[in-house]
Amino acid sequence: LDSYPVHGARQSGVDAPPAGRQQAASEFMAVRVTATDRAGLETLFTQLTVMIRRLAGGLASPDTPVARPPADNGVLGAGPGIDGLTITVAVGASLFDDRFGLADKRPAGLTPMRVFGNDRPEPAWTGGDLLIQVCANHADATHRAVRELLRATRENMQVLWRIRGFGSPPRPEGTPRNLLGFKDGTANPQGDDARSLIWVEDDRDQPWTVGGTYVVVRLIRMFTEFWDRISINEQERIFGRRRDSGAPLDGNAEFDVPDYRADPHGFAVPTDAHIRLANPRTDATAGQRLIRRSYNYDLGVDANGNLQAGHIFVCFQKSIQEQFETVQERLDGEPLEDYVQPFGGGYFFVLPGIRDSHDVLGSGLL
Ligand code: HEM
Repeated sequence: LDSYPVHGARQSGVDAPPAGRQQAASEFMAVRVTATDRAGLETLFTQLTVMIRRLAGGLASPDTPVARPPADNGVLGAGPGIDGLTITVAVGASLFDDRFGLADKRPAGLTPMRVFGNDRPEPAWTGGDLLIQVCANHADATHRAVRELLRATRENMQVLWRIRGFGSPPRPEGTPRNLLGFKDGTANPQGDDARSLIWVEDDRDQPWTVGGTYVVVRLIRMFTEFWDRISINEQERIFGRRRDSGAPLDGNAEFDVPDYRADPHGFAVPTDAHIRLANPRTDATAGQRLIRRSYNYDLGVDANGNLQAGHIFVCFQKSIQEQFETVQERLDGEPLEDYVQPFGGGYFFVLPGIRDSHDVLGSGLL
């Protein structure tokens, strides 16, 4: 796709794309708001809104003047066009401290990220007042969008951490692969099923959250050298799927549905396989499913000369506690943990959409 809507009840960049249709390039940027009062925060949201309209929608913003309008064609010369760009803005729990008088507007489910058994959180890679997710068809377009966003908002926010993500082209077809070589995204809920798991439709405590969703970002390092030494058979038992086809170990084709009731002892799909723990496929766990929109990252090498690459795990849901945390608790101790280590990320709430050309991001919150 070349463009996504910038106006509507919900922000773009969230809905589960059909396998293989997610934009190929992304950036995840967490920022600290440096504006010191409510008026400054309002200015920041206005600046972000103007830039989203301009960069992702190709639209001018006549009704929302900003202090620092980008009057020219941008800082990097002729642009790549819209190129499938989506810019998605979410707020973290720290925005609701006493700086902006928003303490009583915090959605109850928005907390700092919990630390799980295999985590080794690094403060420099964790949390933030805002998370800005930028996705496009090419890394050139995401980089340019980030540059323009930062230029327009310089006096009101500062980058805390930033990581670039990439997808893989379909190999050989369909779903992209992660850096452990497996197809990733196969079992994502789709269509109305996905929509009912993602969007907040009713919140009596915080009515302003309707049309938003919670996003969890987990930066997960992969120990690729170790992974590359174990057999394909062992790798497949860790995930519960075939590497090449993506089929569940009790099936033949990628989209075959595993039948755990027929295999209670895990002879085909081990009971501690990633897919079986993540989604046991029972009636009781159906509401715990989440929508993944993850990317690969590559940061070069670490001080020991090992590859520093991994997974930007991104999932959307209407309740972090009932969906992400419940799933993560079931995954605690899974065999995959020997090959991966979460080191950053955070919990954020994706603001409801910019309704029309007169609306501003966060208007319901402020
Ligand atoms: C499925 C990889 C972390 C939740 C899968 C699949 C792979 C995979 C290959 C099977 C294909 C698919 O359906 O997409 C990974 C890797 C991870 C990781 C490499 C970390 C480096 C996580 C985390 C969670 C999670 C942190 C949530 C807490 C799920 C879910 C499924 C899944 C819900 C679908 C299961 C199903 O419905 O059958 N993952 N995953 N994954 N993963 Fe992960």
